[in-house]
Amino acid sequence: MFALITSGVLALSFVLAAVLKYKFIAKKKSLLGRHVLVTGGSSGIGKCIALEAAKIGANVTIVARNESRLLSALEEIKGQCLNNDQKFKYLSVDLAGDYSMVKTTLNIAINEMGPLYLFINCAGMAICGTLEEVSTNDIMKMINTNLISTIQATKAIVDEMKQNGFGSIVITSSLASFCGIYGLSVYSATKFALRGFAEALSMETKSFGVKVTLALPPDTDTPGYANESKDKPIETLLISATAKLFTPEEVGRKILQDTLNGCFFSTVGLEGHMMTISCAGMAPYTSYLELICQVFCGGILRLITVYYQYLFDKIIEKCKLEREHKKI
Ligand SMILES: NC(=O)c1ccc[n+]([C@@H]2O[C@H](COP(=O)([O-])OP(=O)(O)OC[C@H]3O[C@@H](n4cnc5c(N)ncnc54)[C@H](OP(=O)(O)O)[C@@H]3O)[C@@H](O)[C@H]2O)c1
Repeated sequence: MFALITSGVLALSFVLAAVLKYKFIAKKKSLLGRHVLVTGGSSGIGKCIALEAAKIGANVTIVARNESRLLSALEEIKGQCLNNDQKFKYLSVDLAGDYSMVKTTLNIAINEMGPLYLFINCAGMAICGTLEEVSTNDIMKMINTNLISTIQATKAIVDEMKQNGFGSIVITSSLASFCGIYGLSVYSATKFALRGFAEALSMETKSFGVKVTLALPPDTDTPGYANESKDKPIETLLISATAKLFTPEEVGRKILQDTLNGCFFSTVGLEGHMMTISCAGMAPYTSYLELICQVFCGGILRLITVYYQYLFDKIIEKCKLEREHKKI
């Protein structure tokens, strides 16, 4: 019975979210001849966003550290272009490193490829393990890659975007920014922080015509995900298994669409939509319908999150008992 009510409410929320997305939000803009820069564009979700942007006519710059991966990703992206006038470029820089290098690199992109229309922060990583298991070195790596690189890269371009009076900035967080998950304590902390960053940035840039989108990918089958999964505690694996694993193509496509539609939240799938409604807080709303949906569905969705918390606690308790049993 409870499961039936849950599915009913979830289906209702999903339908409402879909209506919001496709019917009431402004029409998708063209990217013909526009400059789209994607950090982390050599792999996974970032590469798929760059591919989608190339398909609809954008001039694309990708930024990451490893040059050979950048080069091969750029060839793939060029292969998807809409016409021969499009320009493509890659730039190698450690976005978590020296700020003056980050600024110089992004200035090169703007000077050669034109003013930024979309600036997409997608560089990021996760190292799994409970807090006592993760080394201090890995803690700093996550903070630097997820938080510092996004803040530095955005700081380097935001003034120019505000002066231009147009454009969108994407901050790639995670569904783990709504829901701290076992084995992802430090990762969740960096992604929660990015949510605050995106909300405040949106307030700072809105009156200048610059929009901010907070991308909240669910588990997505990327090289980064494969890498982090190697060290996942069994609890994290079992909790992850309660939700669907998405492809980077569907997530990348959705982030680009939502950004062009001016949405603040961008997510994919039932859990994602449920969480953006139930955890909206004081985040900017994209339309009155979205707001109404958050106001009227928030309470019941909170109840459903309690049900998920109960399931996750059960998983964690079972794993703890099994571990203790093995010790004996
Ligand atoms: N995959 C998922 O399940 C998932 C779920 C939620 C959120 N996310 C978020 O989505 C984003 C993309 O994830 P992904 O799975 O697609 O990752 P990925 O396949 O590992 O790609 C990460 C990209 O970031 C670049 N990068 C990393 N550190 C960098 C640095 N310091 N400076 C410049 N570039 C850097 C990497 O290139 P180099 O190593 O060559 O620099 C690579 O291009 C991340 O922010 C991640 O946290 C992913």
